Amino acid sequence: MATLELKAGRPALVLAPMEGVTDAPMRALMSERGGFSFCVTEFFRVSQDVPYGRAFRVHAPEVRDGWKTPSGSLVQLQLLGGDADKLAETALRACRVGAPGIDLNFGCPAPTVNKHDGGATLLKYPERIREIVGAVRRAVPKDIPVSAKLRLGWDTIEPIHRNAEMAAEGGASWITIHGRTKTQGYMPPAYWGPIGEVRRRLGIPVVANGEIWTLDDMRRCRDETGSEHFMLGRSALADPTLVHTLARELGLPSPAPATETDWTSIFARFVYFCSLQSDSQYYALCRMKLWLRMVGHRHAYAWLDPLKRALSLEEFFARLPGGSVAAASLPKWFEPENPLDGTPNVRMRVNARRRVVGAVQPNVL
Ligand SMILES: Cc1cc2nc3c(=O)[nH]c(=O)nc-3n(C[C@H](O)[C@H](O)[C@H](O)COP(=O)(O)O)c2cc1C
Repeated sequence: MATLELKAGRPALVLAPMEGVTDAPMRALMSERGGFSFCVTEFFRVSQDVPYGRAFRVHAPEVRDGWKTPSGSLVQLQLLGGDADKLAETALRACRVGAPGIDLNFGCPAPTVNKHDGGATLLKYPERIREIVGAVRRAVPKDIPVSAKLRLGWDTIEPIHRNAEMAAEGGASWITIHGRTKTQGYMPPAYWGPIGEVRRRLGIPVVANGEIWTLDDMRRCRDETGSEHFMLGRSALADPTLVHTLARELGLPSPAPATETDWTSIFARFVYFCSLQSDSQYYALCRMKLWLRMVGHRHAYAWLDPLKRALSLEEFFARLPGGSVAAASLPKWFEPENPLDGTPNVRMRVNARRRVVGAVQPNVL
């Protein structure tokens, strides 16, 4: 079984966990396009009951394929919660169904999550970070890495030093630092300086994260942090060729960056991966619109607004150059609804398709 690694001297680019955004279809797409070293799931919240194996398969369908995306990239499971024992038991159960690594979320700023003792609220309690990381570390096999993802602090940046130390004392294999406090949310800038200070003091790898939108940003982030490991979130979606440019800069295997982004093909491939997840074209359309919001956050392409108004995938692709090829493939990708009651039976369809198709179809567009 493959395990995840992140080591000094071996640069890495990690696809960020983003709830509702870097889900299985997006992880499939991004890893197939190349450049990323591995992916992290959206957070899996552990609150009342310790989940069983099936819950992991629902959260990360890649479980069925050895926690690998269709193109073979490993997927690390991220857990979120405040109860060390439950998190440890959950991590162990995930490892029993093959999880290649566990990441612990100490950064989520969502008020509902924080109110229930999860995410960034733990940044206020350094000892609890050590306790949680330690409990998970002790529970899972030694060869399974346990990492922690932190923000700089709740409302000030100083706590990162003690919190990172506590994560390391708990046995974290590496830590990822998003260079902002909880109260800073996602407002630019990100503060990379403290990430560098932590990295220089800590004896474990540090993944730098936040506001890396260009090659120049990554170079500056590398200068400020001294890190050779980076996590990309929103920029990976806003500019799907960025990861190729960054990977080449870091000496990682990657396709040559395209001079122009072929959005039509990229969107079509994503819709295809969505069709493996759900028979609902509406689901795919909603996911596309979410993606467009991230693209629009950064670029003012003329084609964006008409796409945002599309009411169906046919309409969506009709508005893109060359989109008719993708539109013609839609009936193939999305089978008709369940003939018995007219409602889509997602699980049945996904399982049936896996049996029939057996493997992901190559990109033919
Ligand atoms: C919509 C959204 C959802 C996110 N969900 C998660 C999550 O599930 N777990 C996590 O650790 N971070 C989550 N994050 C934070 C990102 O992983 C990342 O730290 C942040 O976006 C900064 O990186 P970026 O500037 O490269 O986007 C989320 C961010 C966004 C925008």
